[in-house]
This record gives sequence, structure tokens and C-alpha cells, in this order.
Amino acid sequence: MGWKTLDEMDFAGKTALVRVDINVPFENGQVSDFTRIDAVLPTIRDISAAGGKVVLMAHFGRPKGQPNPEMSLAQVRPALEARLGQPVAFAEDCIGGPAKKAVGAMEPGDVLLLENTRFHAGEEKNDPMMAASLAALGNVYVNDAFSAAHRAHASTEGIAKLLPSCAGRLMAAELQALDAALGNPQRPVVAVVGGAKVSTKLDLLSNLITKVDALVIGGGMANTFLAAQGKDVGKSLCEHDLAETARAIIAKAEEIGCRLVLPVDLVVAREFKAHAPHEVVTDCPPDAMILDAGPASVAQIIDIFKGSRTLIWNGPLGAFELEPFDTATNAAAKAAAELTRDGTLVSVAGGGDTVAALNRAGAAGDFTYISTAGGAFLEWMEGKVLPGVAALEA
Ligand code: 3PG
Ligand code: MG
Repeated sequence: MGWKTLDEMDFAGKTALVRVDINVPFENGQVSDFTRIDAVLPTIRDISAAGGKVVLMAHFGRPKGQPNPEMSLAQVRPALEARLGQPVAFAEDCIGGPAKKAVGAMEPGDVLLLENTRFHAGEEKNDPMMAASLAALGNVYVNDAFSAAHRAHASTEGIAKLLPSCAGRLMAAELQALDAALGNPQRPVVAVVGGAKVSTKLDLLSNLITKVDALVIGGGMANTFLAAQGKDVGKSLCEHDLAETARAIIAKAEEIGCRLVLPVDLVVAREFKAHAPHEVVTDCPPDAMILDAGPASVAQIIDIFKGSRTLIWNGPLGAFELEPFDTATNAAAKAAAELTRDGTLVSVAGGGDTVAALNRAGAAGDFTYISTAGGAFLEWMEGKVLPGVAALEA
């Protein structure tokens, strides 16, 4: 890996511009999930302890280049301060006079949060002027925002070319975990890909079949594959127009020796709602819809987990937000957690719905690594270069 770590940089007396992703869920005027805040605390603490001034750059929501009080990071500052256990100053603009003044008032070890970088159009345009204005505030750049690394923005990409740069603790941990899962994994490797639609995960499936030994397909997207094989899927969510694509993926997997695993039994219902009357079938009746994988499918998946050394997971196996159609996801997640605890499996998961599903299953804590990223995790799994990472390597 061609990037530097925090340990290779000297922060004493320096001002470190640290890109974090604290784009956190916010409900009723409060941060409702601290995961992303807690995840960047080690980087902040280590730079601060090394005598650096920590200037945090971040985005919040999608304000589209305009100041917008609803997306002000001032609202996140109290939660950051509380989790950090140290005062966090705030600058009302991320560049220009207010930012310079706030940085000028810092002592070594202090922490400052700059206002939402996306209040300036130059951020998302990766405008060199914007990157230069940010870079002018400090001496060193630290990127700890893996989950925003799929964006080539001034604070994630442009600035890295202007200052000595390194990866923060979280960025390093994410990249190491992903490398252990897909870059240089212990084999056999099994991937679980679920979720509603094949259309959003075509690149992902195409890349994974070249990298993993077995690919378990679940959720609504499995229906598209079943239909493509001529199976009746009734009223299930299904992208019939992608039948040809699905068949091509099946053929390619066969050709390169990747085992594609589709459900062998199905939990079907007549209504898309929690506790809808349901039954386990092998063929979906015309008036029913598939809402989960059945017990034989789960047994098959767990068997594959047992024969694997590495698991990478993105997306639920069924309509996990509706009980009891979270059964397959929960059972598979619990089995993966147990094998990880036993030390026979390295398990890595990421993506918004995935983390929610694993948390609901009570399995997340036992996974080897849970990514804080949604889109960036997917793009990495797709084999794409993440601009924010590439800029650290240059
Ligand atoms: C996220 O929440 O997925 C990241 O912070 C990236 O946000 P974006 O999708 O608005 O770029
Ligand atoms: Mg996103």
C-alpha cells in the first residue's frame, strides 16, 4: 500500500488538516448514531497528543455548493465534543477569514471543526482554488474519510496533492480490512451480495466472480437470477429486462470456476408487510412474492461459510426490515459471527443496509471488520480506484 500512516508523520507544532466523514444520521435536532464520530476519534487524539493542531474538514448532507443552516456542522459539533471529551472550536466558514482566524487562535493539541466544505461549489468540483484555500490553513493533510474516498473533491483529493499527506487510523484500518477480504484474502473466499436490485450491483457482481470462490446471491436480486433460469417468481420484485445479463453472469461464473449460489427454497407471502402469512416453497406461486430465503438455502449458505476462510458481505438476504423475513439474514449473520469468534473465518461487511441488518441480528460486534462506508465500500468491491485513496498514494 503506497500511502503513509500517522506514525510516519511529524505533527509537533504543525497544523494538520484532517478530512473526516461525520456525515451522521441526524434526527430531531440530534445526532442519532455516533459510529462515524467514534471511528475518527483515534486519529484526532493521536495527532493532538503528538502536539499537532487538529483542523477537521467534513461535509454534512448535500447542500449543493450553497450555505444551508440545515446542513451546518455546527449541529454536529456538540456530539463530537462529547464523544471526544475535549473542547472543539468551530469556524463558520471552511476557508477565508473565519477559518484563518480560528486556526490562528489554536494552541498545539487543540481541535477545530470547519463548517461544511460543501457550502462551496468548489468542493465537489474539485476546484484547485478551493483545494489551495484549504491547504493554506495548515502544513499536513490527513485523510481519515474512507467513506467519502469515492468522491474526487477538493477536501478529499485536490488537497492531497498540495501538502505532505497520510492516511488516518480509520482510513488505514478500512484499507487493511478490505485488502484482507478481497485484495490478498485467505481462501476459499465467499461473498454474499444481497439487496433489491441487480441493476445497482452489476459492476459488483461482475468483479466479484473474478475474485471469490463462491458468490451467494440473496434478496430481491436473487429473483432476477431465478427468473432468468426460467423459474416462476410470481409477483416478486424482479428485473425481467435483466434476464440476459443475469444469464451472462451465470455463464461467466461457470467459465471461471466461481460457484454461484442461489436460493433453493423460498419464503413467500401474498403481502409485503411484517408478519404477513407465509410459507416455504420451492416454486413461487403466481399470486405470491418471495420475501426471504428458506431454511434449506440458509443451511447451504452456512455450510459454505464453514468451508471458507474469508467472507465479504454486502446486502441482506431477504426483506430484513419486515419480521419474520429477516430470518435468513439473521441466521446467516449469526453463523458468520460464530465462525469468526471461533477464529476460522475472517468476516468483513459494509454498506448502509448491511450494517443495519447485522446490527439487528446482533452479529455486527463479532465480525472481523465492519466498514463505516456505503458507496465507497461498494465502489471498492467493484474494483474501482477510489480517488481519495489514489491521491494519498501519489
Ligand atoms: C456517505 O454518507 O455515504 C458519505 O459521507 C458520502 O456522502 P455522499 O454520498 O453525499 O458523497
Ligand atoms: Mg452515499
